[in-house]
Amino acid sequence: MWIIYKGRGMNDMITISVCVGTSCHLNGSYNVLQIFQQLTEQYSIHDQIDFKACFCRKECQNHGVSISIDKDNFRVTSEEADAFFKKEILKKCNNQ
Ligand code: FES
Repeated sequence: MWIIYKGRGMNDMITISVCVGTSCHLNGSYNVLQIFQQLTEQYSIHDQIDFKACFCRKECQNHGVSISIDKDNFRVTSEEADAFFKKEILKKCNNQ
């Protein structure tokens, strides 16, 4: 008997890395991550996103928290996190 799995495998997941280095932590990395995780559950896309924490990327001089979505880098504040998620992450999930 063959079982065929439909859907995405681990390699198709979107990797979101959030910097938890000292500067980004002080700029709200915990809040940004919490907002992203809440929205991921709200939109039921937890099976499409792999969250990772990372340490300083030497971008501390910029405002917000350093994050990357796959290979693209961004800076996001807590206040921008909701809109950023909907614009960048949700769009990417819907396009896969
Ligand atoms: S602590 Fe996040 S880029 Fe330096």
